[in-house]
Amino acid sequence: MKKYTVLNASPRKSGSTAALIETLMDAPRQNGDAVTTFILDKLSIHGCQACEVCRHQENSFCIQNDDMGPIYKSLQAADVIVIGMPVYMSLPSAQAIAVLNRLYANAYVGKDGSKSRKISGKQIVTIYSQGAGTPDYYTDTFDLVDKVFGNSLDSTVIKRFVCAGGQVATDVEKEARNYFRG
Ligand SMILES: Cc1cc2nc3c(=O)[nH]c(=O)nc-3n(C[C@H](O)[C@H](O)[C@H](O)COP(=O)(O)O)c2cc1C
Repeated sequence: MKKYTVLNASPRKSGSTAALIETLMDAPRQNGDAVTTFILDKLSIHGCQACEVCRHQENSFCIQNDDMGPIYKSLQAADVIVIGMPVYMSLPSAQAIAVLNRLYANAYVGKDGSKSRKISGKQIVTIYSQGAGTPDYYTDTFDLVDKVFGNSLDSTVIKRFVCAGGQVATDVEKEARNYFRG
């Protein structure tokens, strides 16, 4: 049984990010895999306080007591991480960036300067939804965001889906429906 952690960074319950996540996760659900979903907009995720405590704790994350706690644990346990993000002002929504900032806590730096990670080796799938109708309009931005999420989680982005024009195109829908199947 695989474990999936899904982060939905759209505030819209019935938006295209939510729709594509549902389509993508249909196969794992049917397969009986464990799917844990976080609707980030419903959660309290504070900004990083730059205290650096996290970097000196090998087995724990941020000392702030907010909704990032369960997210860190879920990400650590996951095999696959799905991150769905609407594009706001040419960047991922603030709900997505809030989590990204707090992934600073994934790095551990030992007294001898040695570095390790608390979460690593996951497969990441990103989903972007944009109002712009041309699917490759934000490719440079998405390349960067994929890279930063990948590095922050010491993991690899294995697949990206783009919903252009605020809609899930038929071919994107089909690809997502079959992506985790089989
Ligand atoms: C505050 C705000 C800013 C936005 N900025 C952009 C933008 O810069 N570029 C773009 O293509 N679409 C932009 N959009 C449109 C959304 O990306 C688009 O509606 C997207 O499909 C929303 O995803 P959702 O339906 O999953 O919430 C913006 C929407 C909002 C509400």
